[in-house]
Amino acid sequence: MKNIKFAMPSLKDARMRKSKIVPTIRYTVEEKYKTLGLNKSYAIFTYGCQGNEADSEVMAGILEEIGYEKSSDPMNADLVILNTCAIRENAEQRIWGVLGQLKGKKRENPDMLIGIAGCMPQEENTTNKILESYGFIDLVIGTHNKNHLPKLLFEAYMTKAKVVEVISSEGEILEDAPKVRESHHKAWVNIMYGCDEFCTYCIVPYTRGKERSRAKEDILKEVEELVSLGYKEITLLGQNVNAYGKDLEVKYTFGDLLYDLDKTGIQRIRYTTSHPRDLDELTMQAMHDCKSVMPHLHLPVQSGDNEILRRMNRKYTYEVYMEKINQLRKLVPDLALTTDIIVGFPNETKEQFANTLKLVQNAKFEGAYTFIYSKREGTPAASMPDDITEEEKHKRLEELNIYVNQGYLEGHKRFLNQVVEVLVDGPSKNGEGMMCGYTPHLKLTHFKCEDLSLIGQIVKIKITEAKTWFMIGELCE
Ligand code: 5AD
Ligand code: SF4
Repeated sequence: MKNIKFAMPSLKDARMRKSKIVPTIRYTVEEKYKTLGLNKSYAIFTYGCQGNEADSEVMAGILEEIGYEKSSDPMNADLVILNTCAIRENAEQRIWGVLGQLKGKKRENPDMLIGIAGCMPQEENTTNKILESYGFIDLVIGTHNKNHLPKLLFEAYMTKAKVVEVISSEGEILEDAPKVRESHHKAWVNIMYGCDEFCTYCIVPYTRGKERSRAKEDILKEVEELVSLGYKEITLLGQNVNAYGKDLEVKYTFGDLLYDLDKTGIQRIRYTTSHPRDLDELTMQAMHDCKSVMPHLHLPVQSGDNEILRRMNRKYTYEVYMEKINQLRKLVPDLALTTDIIVGFPNETKEQFANTLKLVQNAKFEGAYTFIYSKREGTPAASMPDDITEEEKHKRLEELNIYVNQGYLEGHKRFLNQVVEVLVDGPSKNGEGMMCGYTPHLKLTHFKCEDLSLIGQIVKIKITEAKTWFMIGELCE
C-alpha cells in the first residue's frame, strides 16, 4: 500500500514551547466532505483518560455531521477508529491486541477503513511501527488535528493509500466542533488542553502539547447550553486544571471559573486532574463556597518520598502536599480525597517506598489509581538507571493496594445509615432489579429499583451496606 504522509510525529518538536498565545480554531467543514459518510457506519473505541473520551465525542460529532451513523456492531463497522492512550506500556499492548483482531476483520471485509488516533500515533516509534508492519491501517491521525478528519478520510477513500497526519506542535484550541455526548445527564467539559509540567516519567506533555486554556466565554456558553438541555453534572477536564488561565491575557484563574460556573445553575461540578503545586487558596475557597462544586478531589501525589518526588520533577514535597490537603479539609471537612501513585520509579529504594505507604495512611485517601512505573521512550526517566526487579515492583504494588483498598472501604463506611443524593446512571451490573449512580463524594451506589425514568435524576438513598468498591442502599420514598 502506498503512503501519503501529510505530517509525521517528532518528539523533539513536541517538546518545544514557543508562542505565549495559541490560536483558537472555529470548526467548519468544507462542502465537498458533507456527504462523505452517507450509508456508512462508524465505531470509535476509546482507551485511556477522560480527555480521550471527550475527544471521541468530538470525533463522533464530526463523523455524524458528514453522514456516518453509529454502528450497532462496532467490530464490523465501515469505519473503525481506535482512540489510543500512550501513558503506559500495558495500555499500548491492549491496543496492539485489538488491532490484531481488526486485521482479521479487514481480511473478511476489505472495504472496512481502520484508523488509529489519539496519543499513540504522537510517538515516533509507534507511527514508524504502523508504517512498517501494520499495512492494514488506513488512517493515522494524532491529538492535534481531529478537525482534519473529513479531509483525511476523503484522501483515504480517494487514493486508497495509507494517510498519515500527526502534528507535533504546541497545539491549538478547537471551538464549535459538533459533539455526540455519551450521556444525557453528565458531560465532559474541556477547560484546557496540554501540559507544561514535564514530570520526568510522563509522555503526556509530548503527546498533548502546551498548556492552553479555553476562553471563559466559550466554557460558560457550553455549560449554559448543557444546563438548558437538562444536564445535571459536568466534569471539567484538563491535565492540570489548576493551571487554568495562566496562559490567558486576562487575569482569570481556575477558582474564578468555579465561582462563575456555580452561577450557571448546573447542579454538580467536578474537575480532574489537579496538580498539588497549583492547587491554590481561591480554588479551595470555591470548593467551600460553591454548592455545586462536589466535595471530592482527585489530587495525584505519585510518591510519598521527597527524593523520588524531586526526581519525578513534581515540584512539591510530602510536607507541602499534606499541608495543602489539611488546609482544604479545614474548608471542606467531609472531603473525599483520591490520588494516583506510581511504584517502582527507577531505583526507588525500600525505604522510599515505605514513605509512600506512610503517606497513604496519613493522607486518608478514599481511593487511588496505583501503577507500576512504565518506561516511556523519549522522557527523562527512561534514561535513569533502574535496579528494581519486576517481581519486586509487583510486590510493592500489591502491598500498596492493601492500604489503598482499606481506604476505599473506610470511605464507604462513613456513609452507613446516612441518606445521600445519588445521580442515577442506569441499571446496575450488580444484580437483577438494581440501579446505580454516584453520590456527591463520587461513591458508586447500587440500590433496588427498576424505574428507568429515574435515569438522570438525583434521588435520595439510605446507605445500608459498605463494600470495598461500592455502597448499597435503599431508595427513600
Ligand atoms: N508509568 C506509570 N504511571 C504513569 N502515569 C503517568 N505516566 C506514567 C508512567 N510512565 C500515571 C500517573 C498519572 C496517571 C494519569 O498515570 O500516576 O497521574
Ligand atoms: Fe503527566 Fe505530570 Fe502533566 Fe500529569 S502533570 S499529565 S503526570 S506531566
